[in-house]
Amino acid sequence: VPISNIRNFCIIAHIDHGKSTLADKLLQMTGTVESREMKEQFLDNMDLERERGITIKLQAARMRFIYENEPYCLNLIDTPGHVDFSYEVSRSLAACEGALLVVDASQGVEAQTLANVYLALENNLEIIPILNKIDLPGAEPSRVAQEIEEIVGLDCSNAIHASAKEGIGITEILNAIVQKIPPPGDTAGRPLRALIFDSYYDPYRGVIVYFRVIDGTIKKGDRVLFMASGKDYFADELGVLSPNQLQVDQLYAGEVGFLSASIRSVADARVGDTITHFNRKAEQSLPGYKEATPMVFCGLFPVDADQFSELRDALEKLQLNDAALKFEPETSSAMGFGFRCGFLGLLHMEIVQERLEREYDLSLITTAPSVVYRVNCIDGDIVECSNPSLLPEPGKRRSIEEPFVKIELLTPKDYIGALMELAQDRRGIFKEMKYITENRASLIYELPLAEMVGDFFDQLKSRSKGYASMEYSFIGYTESDLIKLDILINGDCVEPLATIVHKDKAYSVGRALTQKLKELIPRQMFKVPIQATIGSKVIASEAISAIRKDVLAKCYGGDISRKKKLLKKQAEGKKRMKAIGKVDVPQEAFMAVLKLE
Ligand code: GTP
Repeated sequence: VPISNIRNFCIIAHIDHGKSTLADKLLQMTGTVESREMKEQFLDNMDLERERGITIKLQAARMRFIYENEPYCLNLIDTPGHVDFSYEVSRSLAACEGALLVVDASQGVEAQTLANVYLALENNLEIIPILNKIDLPGAEPSRVAQEIEEIVGLDCSNAIHASAKEGIGITEILNAIVQKIPPPGDTAGRPLRALIFDSYYDPYRGVIVYFRVIDGTIKKGDRVLFMASGKDYFADELGVLSPNQLQVDQLYAGEVGFLSASIRSVADARVGDTITHFNRKAEQSLPGYKEATPMVFCGLFPVDADQFSELRDALEKLQLNDAALKFEPETSSAMGFGFRCGFLGLLHMEIVQERLEREYDLSLITTAPSVVYRVNCIDGDIVECSNPSLLPEPGKRRSIEEPFVKIELLTPKDYIGALMELAQDRRGIFKEMKYITENRASLIYELPLAEMVGDFFDQLKSRSKGYASMEYSFIGYTESDLIKLDILINGDCVEPLATIVHKDKAYSVGRALTQKLKELIPRQMFKVPIQATIGSKVIASEAISAIRKDVLAKCYGGDISRKKKLLKKQAEGKKRMKAIGKVDVPQEAFMAVLKLE
């Protein structure tokens, strides 16, 4: 098709508002996939994603659509639905000219909707509002349309009423894509610039790179240069996604496709990088490229020391497919050999942990996540510290800075008080409150990232009965009055339990943490003291009383099978324990600091 008949678009929506369902319907209606080949949802094709009902990795699909007897080529570029991946979202938006804004007509605008709309506006996209789920009895399309107008400032008089589930409004949506979204500019004559919006590692072909050609033309076999990584390759394979990969010889400005070139790791073909020709370089790379900076770190230790090298292999394999995952070996006297790993955010961390256990069958102890502190030392050095147990000694440091985020909460007005209390409790600095509609308010706070790591999101949901939503973005480092709290179990300092806290909270955290650990650590054959200390000063202490736990005493006589069963049960109970000194510490204890009340 001519370039004037190409449309590149994405779908932006809050979680569960129906993005994947709509994408599937568009693919079906355009005959791109037969309904019988549809897995439940085509675009979210990773198991983990389907299970959690969230979109983690981007995908793309090309559809053919006939409008007024002319064939059109519609490229849908999917976006991940979580703040941890907002950089990836911004790059896939940059690959489009338009966006479908899907809002659940029984709910309304949520924080994530807003954040994505702002990104779309920054990228100058044409936005088509869609009120989804009008089949629901509780749907209030006109109220929600008004809400979008008021909050987003988007004309909704022609908003499309749709039900992705029932297939209502789908043709109107396809028509609107053709009518409202502008075609790409015709810049095929310029030197090649293609924007990478996704990449994944295929064990047989190497990295598969998804890109949008912004300028120029790319041919199969071309020698291409990745401008940010500085690496060059021959494009062995070139193709489009329909949505299965289909090889082609050439792609022009405005088109979306993939290439493979025996690239060994996604780190060499990072999202946001610009592809150009090795022999006819573009003068400037496309704007917006950013290195991935891990925001939270944690220690991963195999329960069984023998699994250390398996853990390393597994992390290396995951990294081939995840340029944002960072890791380096970490040794601790308490935990033995393991790795310190860095992640974009908490969801990213959970995903990696889950994969390691599920796909690689590793049994791991995870230590509580920490943010990266910046320590200004007396000798003038600045030390970045992502491991509380390695914080420079008080005598060596002048001050500590910690990362702050700006959060925006959207909530029905009834919960404003409860949420303000939560934010204040987490050292939040109030910035702004405004009513976005009669019933709903937006609250803006600046707050230490460390206070969000943990149960902040759960608290937000429970204190608002599930109605509030939030977004956050990193704003920078601020000096805070922080100190290190150590935990001693049975007299031994347990490094992975060390935590960095604000001075004003040290006593209450110390007390709550020792109490929590007392609950979580099983009784042993001897009395186990648990202490929280700052430097050499004990600020809280508890003790677990001794128990004589002879499981076999319960089995009378020679019932051997029953004996075996009991022993097996005990062994299973031990699986996720780490022996620290003489004390078995369960996985939950390492996370205790996140769940203090
Ligand atoms: P993420 O992938 O997490 O961002 O969610 P999503 O926005 O892709 O939502 P998804 O398409 O998975 O839909 C969420 C839920 O809403 C599913 O249970 C869908 O069946 C349901 N749903 C989607 N569209 C409609 C609709 O038009 N009407 C009704 N009644 N339910 C819908």
